[in-house]
Amino acid sequence: MNVLILGSGGREHAFAWKIKQSSLLDQLYIAPGNAGTHELGENVDLNPLDFEAIGSFCLDKNIELIVVGPEAPLVEGITDFFSNHEKYGNILIVGPSAQGAKLEGSKAFAKEFMIQNKIPTARYQRFDKKNIGEAAVFLESLSAPYVLKADGLAAGKGVLILDDLNEAKEQLSAMILNNKFGEASAQVVIEEFLSGIELSVFVLTDGKDYLVLPEAKDYKRIGEGDTGLNTGGMGAISPVPFADKAFMDKVEDRIVIPTIRGLQEARIDYKGFVFIGLMNVNGDPYVIEYNVRMGDPETEVVLPRIASDLLQTLIATAEGNLANEDIKIKDEVATTVIMVSGGYPEAYEKGKIIEGLEKVNDSVVFHAGTKKSDNQILTNGGRVLAVTSYGTEMKEALQKSYTNIQNISFEKQYFRSDIGFDL
Ligand code: AMP
Ligand code: GLY
Repeated sequence: MNVLILGSGGREHAFAWKIKQSSLLDQLYIAPGNAGTHELGENVDLNPLDFEAIGSFCLDKNIELIVVGPEAPLVEGITDFFSNHEKYGNILIVGPSAQGAKLEGSKAFAKEFMIQNKIPTARYQRFDKKNIGEAAVFLESLSAPYVLKADGLAAGKGVLILDDLNEAKEQLSAMILNNKFGEASAQVVIEEFLSGIELSVFVLTDGKDYLVLPEAKDYKRIGEGDTGLNTGGMGAISPVPFADKAFMDKVEDRIVIPTIRGLQEARIDYKGFVFIGLMNVNGDPYVIEYNVRMGDPETEVVLPRIASDLLQTLIATAEGNLANEDIKIKDEVATTVIMVSGGYPEAYEKGKIIEGLEKVNDSVVFHAGTKKSDNQILTNGGRVLAVTSYGTEMKEALQKSYTNIQNISFEKQYFRSDIGFDL
């Protein structure tokens, strides 16, 4: 089978790495890919949002399966584009329809879906220009900190958590009336603050049946001890000790099953990943958000823990045949530590030469933001590399990642040296 992966980050490199191991694979293409995916397949200079160009490429190269990495093409309707045009008839696609992608594309839609399906989540109300006058009363009914979320996609920046009531009121106006996050914040969800430890749970569904993949914990803040600005993610660990059988049973019963049933009842076409960001509040799971794709950097620890053939499972998902599929999970712990460009998540420079990758031993380096230029590998993003390792225990895996990071260098590199500190 010929496969096309859309995206260019560490997540997509991890998909390419895992799919490359499948005996079902013929040709592998990644669009646009990075210097890491270049070693595993052919990078193609296509924009994941240019559906017409992707369609022509698929016909030209006889692509049989598309794996969509990031959310934007899904929210923009790539799956509907392929299923609505007869000429693409047989191309399978892993990723939900635009209607399904609203679980990530609209926080208000996601909250309504959760309430309708009795899925535990924080109490909330939605506001826009018309009812902004009522927001003060709702904010005053909550206690600090106040959680304000832009309804639409805002490149991971649309959530504000504020300690002060007046500041919350001011920021709400800035979001709704002054387009703080553009069109994405024309509508805002205000919700109750949930106190606990976060967990990322991943489900693969064909809309009827589902498989729960290994869970992971992501470290979002730039600074050690979980301080400073939010990033795309600075490291991840799988499995997560507190996500024991009893806790994961609650997640399955209270969240996963009602989510899949809710999609079915709403007749939403959903063949792809559901990433449930949840909070463990005193032993009970509450949904913070849905994403309609895999997490990054979580993918860089979740896929390495899958022992069975992922391509086979992805084909079954896209064909609607998950009922007979099973996945095998490795017992080992996987950890990843992200090396970023100095300055990230604010301004940073690109184009720095990365050295020492050939010295890495007993870790897998997934490229997050790199590009190849002549015979050199250059930095090409805020997050640059994800150094993933296995161990029988978390400590052992982390030690391998940190030892290998000492071999790698680029100007102004930064990484957190405390991944896993809280577990
Ligand atoms: P999101 O962009 O939805 O992932 O939100 C960003 C981060 O804000 C989450 O990862 C949480 O750490 C935090 N967050 C979002 N909603 C809540 C909430 N209701 N209570 C506490 N923290 C939250
Ligand atoms: N690591 C969080 C995300 O992918 O959204």
